[in-house]
Amino acid sequence: MRITIFGATGLQGKSLMGAWSDDAVTGFGSADGDIRNAERVSDLVRRSRPDGIVHLAAYTDVDGCEANRDLAFDVNCRGAVNVAQAARQYGAHLLFLSTDYVFDGTKTTPYATDDRRAARSVYGRSKADAEVQLSQILPDCCIVRTSWLFGAGGKCFPDTILKLAASRPQLEVVVAAERLLQPRRRLAARETEHEYRHGEPESLRALGNLQPGNCEHGR
Ligand SMILES: NC(=O)c1ccc[n+]([C@@H]2O[C@H](COP(=O)([O-])OP(=O)(O)OC[C@H]3O[C@@H](n4cnc5c(N)ncnc54)[C@H](OP(=O)(O)O)[C@@H]3O)[C@@H](O)[C@H]2O)c1
Repeated sequence: MRITIFGATGLQGKSLMGAWSDDAVTGFGSADGDIRNAERVSDLVRRSRPDGIVHLAAYTDVDGCEANRDLAFDVNCRGAVNVAQAARQYGAHLLFLSTDYVFDGTKTTPYATDDRRAARSVYGRSKADAEVQLSQILPDCCIVRTSWLFGAGGKCFPDTILKLAASRPQLEVVVAAERLLQPRRRLAARETEHEYRHGEPESLRALGNLQPGNCEHGR
């Protein structure tokens, strides 16, 4: 199987590139092509001839998205649409990594896949819009929503806290308790590969919320 990864140079992309074995995996970062450029995306997909595409590339700076709304929608929504259209053009399956930010975070129980999207941030809205458009372009695509990713080789919450703790005697951090309960996110790379290699066709047409201790599939 041939796999193409957009966002291969990011936190999750590097982890996925390192973890994926047995298949021919091609990874692209922004230096290989800007996903906002539909022609370039199409060209990269045509040349890598993938059976499956994993789309991780995004503008992930949540505060930056608030300050740069147009850029957030251009990269996170239009860029994702460009990847989906290229996937459709060349007959590749698409897996899109989305976020719990598509919800408003007020629910006190785990979110179901068919809960209404109600993003409160620009980042969340840009990813929610991408989900809707991708489902229309490629009804068979797989959308996986995860929350805080952590791991070596990229900017992530534990890394930031460790750096701050090294320079300050005391830290004040405000977070929603449930957002800390995601220790298995570092396994997401293996889960993604597993979905592709061993997933039944049904599980590749899923909308999934990854939550602590379970992975709920819908659709
Ligand atoms: N990090 C989290 O906690 C978290 C939580 C939930 C969901 N997610 C989702 O998971 C995915 C991966 O997140 P991550 O933390 O691994 O992201 P990341 O470390 O910020 O990496 C972003 C990736 O996107 C690429 N990229 C950004 N803008 C691009 C553009 N205009 N054209 C082409 N490539 C572009 C970057 O390329 P270069 O590095 O080469 O510039 C990099 O490979 C994202 O879709 C994100 O929304 C992340």
